[in-house]
Amino acid sequence: MIFLLFLIFPHYSTPQTIEYVAASPNPPHGCPNYGLCTDVTTTLVSSTNVSTTYKYGCAPENCYCVDGTTNGTEPCDTIVDQCGNDPCGTPDKFNCTSKIESYDCTCQAGFTGEKCDSEIGSACATSQCREGSTCEASDNSTTGYTCRCTDKQYGTYCENDNLCADWPCQNGGTCSMVLSNSNWICNCTEGWQGRRCETKNSVLSSPVMGKCYKYDYVKIGTHQTKYKDDKMTSDKCNEYAQEKSTDDKTLKYLTLCGEWCMVSEDMLVKDDVSMKDDCKKSCGGDSSEYCGKVNSRCIVYEAGEMETDPNACEDNSTLCGAELGHGMCINWQSDVTDGFACICEPLWTGPDCENPVASACTPNPCVNGTCVLNEQYNKYKCDCDDGFSGDNCEYSKTCTAATCLYGGTCTETNNGGFKCDCLNLYSGNRCEEINRCNYGDPCVNGKCETTVDGITTNYTCTCDDGWTGANCETMIDFCTPDPCKYNSTCTPKFKGYDCTCLTGLTGANCSEIIDLCVPYWDNEAWKWIKSPCNSKDDMANCTKKINGFTCSCGEKWTDTLCDLNVLIKDVLMAIYGHVDLTMITLLNDLMQNPSQIKDMVPFITGLLTDSERSDLSWDAGDLFNWIAFEDQRLDLNRDIHKWNDVVLGNCFTFNHRDRNFTYLMRRPGRHGGIQAFMKTRQDEYAPWYDTAAINVFIHNRDDYVFSESVRYNAQPNAQSTINIFMTRYTRLGGNYGKCIKKPSEVKNYYYPGAYTTDGCLRTCYQDRMKEECNCMDPRYPQAPNSTSCQLSERSCVTEASEAAGDPSTWSSCVCPLPCSNQEYSVTWSKANFVNLPITCEKSSDVATCQKQYKDQLMVSIILPQLDFKIYAETPAMDFNKFLSQLGGQLGVLMGINVVTFIEVVFLFFGMFMVLCQKYEK
Ligand SMILES: *[C@@H]1O[C@H](CO)[C@@H](O)[C@H](O)[C@H]1NC(C)=O
Ligand SMILES: *[C@@H]1O[C@H](CO)[C@@H](O)[C@H](O)[C@H]1NC(C)=O
Ligand SMILES: *[C@@H]1O[C@H](CO)[C@@H](O)[C@H](O)[C@H]1NC(C)=O
Ligand SMILES: *[C@@H]1O[C@H](CO)[C@@H](O)[C@H](O)[C@H]1NC(C)=O
Ligand SMILES: *[C@@H]1O[C@H](CO)[C@@H](O)[C@H](O)[C@H]1NC(C)=O
Ligand SMILES: *[C@@H]1O[C@H](CO)[C@@H](O)[C@H](O)[C@H]1NC(C)=O
Ligand SMILES: *[C@@H]1O[C@H](CO)[C@@H](O)[C@H](O)[C@H]1NC(C)=O
Repeated sequence: MIFLLFLIFPHYSTPQTIEYVAASPNPPHGCPNYGLCTDVTTTLVSSTNVSTTYKYGCAPENCYCVDGTTNGTEPCDTIVDQCGNDPCGTPDKFNCTSKIESYDCTCQAGFTGEKCDSEIGSACATSQCREGSTCEASDNSTTGYTCRCTDKQYGTYCENDNLCADWPCQNGGTCSMVLSNSNWICNCTEGWQGRRCETKNSVLSSPVMGKCYKYDYVKIGTHQTKYKDDKMTSDKCNEYAQEKSTDDKTLKYLTLCGEWCMVSEDMLVKDDVSMKDDCKKSCGGDSSEYCGKVNSRCIVYEAGEMETDPNACEDNSTLCGAELGHGMCINWQSDVTDGFACICEPLWTGPDCENPVASACTPNPCVNGTCVLNEQYNKYKCDCDDGFSGDNCEYSKTCTAATCLYGGTCTETNNGGFKCDCLNLYSGNRCEEINRCNYGDPCVNGKCETTVDGITTNYTCTCDDGWTGANCETMIDFCTPDPCKYNSTCTPKFKGYDCTCLTGLTGANCSEIIDLCVPYWDNEAWKWIKSPCNSKDDMANCTKKINGFTCSCGEKWTDTLCDLNVLIKDVLMAIYGHVDLTMITLLNDLMQNPSQIKDMVPFITGLLTDSERSDLSWDAGDLFNWIAFEDQRLDLNRDIHKWNDVVLGNCFTFNHRDRNFTYLMRRPGRHGGIQAFMKTRQDEYAPWYDTAAINVFIHNRDDYVFSESVRYNAQPNAQSTINIFMTRYTRLGGNYGKCIKKPSEVKNYYYPGAYTTDGCLRTCYQDRMKEECNCMDPRYPQAPNSTSCQLSERSCVTEASEAAGDPSTWSSCVCPLPCSNQEYSVTWSKANFVNLPITCEKSSDVATCQKQYKDQLMVSIILPQLDFKIYAETPAMDFNKFLSQLGGQLGVLMGINVVTFIEVVFLFFGMFMVLCQKYEK
């Protein structure tokens, strides 16, 4: 026995520390100086069980320099010069040092000050002149310098703001600094008030009618209530009017004429429109008003009452604590003031400057620094001790040389923090991250984000809408997968696509098939048709498809549009083996009007050979139960000749001229004639036939039967009896008028058998057709080697024959009578079958037997007498000659015992092809 023992030794792996050692410490990832390595290379330094150490570095060509640096002796070690345009000012006072994307300005040796324009050692080197002012060394001053202020500053060191510098006062008011220069007021010109002298001091607005009035000496010169002031204003006059008014006397009008003012109840002056504005002289006290000219022109105002004191500040000197120096009062009548407003000294506040304010430096807000008070506004600034920052020196300074990495600039923030301004390839709070996105701006159409994998820094792009690819450089192809249906063309475009639909499609994605199965108006039928499939077939169903539709037809119709009658199709297939479009209309007409078939069929069958046509129709055996002559049954094969006529179809002739053997009539009456018992086979007729019958033609043995020849209908379920009487005509010819003995005597003759006028005329007709239509009418016999007219040429034939008319009237057609011919007159009788034959009564299926019986018929053709009439032309003779010959002639007539023959033609016409098809089904 063999024991197999598998021992599985577990394999413990020691955790490995992988360490990377930079080739150059700053910046990281391999490049020395200010470069970013775009392809870091690592070199194995050492490997132990517990740790592996790599050194990594960068090929110079893979170093990408920070903006503002370039290659020097080493990659990216040179800072691009930023001092070329002397950005610091006069070069002989400044030293400019380029930094990455910036520069430092320091004063050259011997210069100091903000603009490096103070020579070291001069008083200005340590001046206290405020920023913006200019220091000038001056022996005259105790400080050794004077400060030249800007126009917005003032004071020894330009330490104060000149609040009036911006000209706040309007309307001629003058601005002055007040309240220890902490504020400003406007000293307004007379008639104005408000913070900025923007408000009019007067209640009176504009003069009455805005114009001057003529001075009326009589009224004004003697007027009682007059008042004079060389600084007259409407306000002054108004105050006078208020003073003089009593309860029963309202002095409504103020008339100002220069320094004079009159108050009155009514207008004191005359209206004088001709006076223009030449009287408008400014009042002495207020240039904004008009007072008119003394003794010449006057201005009239309407008196009004002042609601508030226009001189509130002057009237109460205690307002705004003005006496105590806490604030100042401003006359200010407005909606929001009560005739005055207060501006307070910085150490006082409140609506009346009644509340004291503590000094901003008490208590000292500066945590690790000195409070400096700005007395002008009672505001403080902290002068921080070394190592502290913030508005109140509350934070320890955080920026050290090492705070921001890789060339980043550190700035303290107000809240004790710091902010690193990184060089372009770096990012992060301390610029510790490589900002790969700033190298080459890789994301063409998207947002870039730096990614770090070990020591390799890379980026990922988040693409904007419509873009794709690692760098968002590729427009998204919205055509893949193809949204356009049914193989329509897709054209991509930004953020989308366009479908160009194939014909028959619609919708944004061409997904909709345009439905062509819609009803339409048929002008001919004068009605709406449900769909294109239903023009003929009500039962057809229409199914839409691209750029079309499919019809599924009912039983009776076929073809793509269900407009082809199944019957017609079958007919065409049978004849041509394919559906000939030109035939369809004709056959459709035929379906509408079956009687036309007589016209049509010959055109179709005329194209077939004789034997083909013959095969389409019945055979003698199909029709004859039996046929008998002189009560003797005949042999159908031997005695009945079958032939085919284009129009009539298969015909069966007894005693046909082509037969060698001829039966002669020997006995008059029923026993000497012909009898036939036949079937009509109605069940096989085409549906449009409404009569069923056997056509019987009786004609001379040599004569040809035409489709129009006289015929007799033998109807089914009846016995038809035809009695024949023969008449013979003979003509002399020669001098007695032309007559024809043989067909060759006329120009052309296409009929078999003896010459007849009808045959001759039809031959003329055929010749005419040949000329007109280049084919011959297939309904009639044609010249050998001629072509039959196709059904499509039927219209030509019809038109040509209608235009030409009856051939017997054509001069070109010479058809004399035959020299001899026979005609038969006929009496005809019909007797319906009355009883069923006994055989049927015995039959098991009486109904079928009866039906078959009703399809049958009997024909009897009888020569009641054997003699016949002769009409013969004889030469003219005189009466005597006539008499002498009469007896002989009669004798001849009477003595001749003529036995003649008849031919019986049975023929059937019908839709032979249809019948054949029916057999097949
Ligand atoms: C620095 O030198 C490398 C290698 O010679 C080169 O590929 C790179 O383009 C240079 N960089 C600059 C900013 O000129
Ligand atoms: C200014 O630049 C000059 C020469 O470029 C140099 O000698 C001098 O030390 C610089 N002074 C300062 C203050 O950097
Ligand atoms: C100093 O004062 C004297 C006389 O008071 C005057 O002449 C001189 O121009 C002043 N110098 C300056 C720099 O203002
Ligand atoms: C305002 O100006 C007038 C004359 O212009 C002067 O008499 C008056 O003292 C000034 N008032 C103040 C408060 O400056
Ligand atoms: C002056 O104004 C003060 C404070 O608004 C008020 O108390 C005093 O009554 C006023 N004096 C007069 C005469 O209106
Ligand atoms: C800063 O201020 C705090 C609180 O006033 C004080 O404890 C601390 O000693 C000061 N630090 C320095 C360096 O003055
Ligand atoms: C960096 O990322 C881009 C885009 O994602 C990629 O094509 C490239 O290969 C990456 N480079 C490295 C060194 O991984």
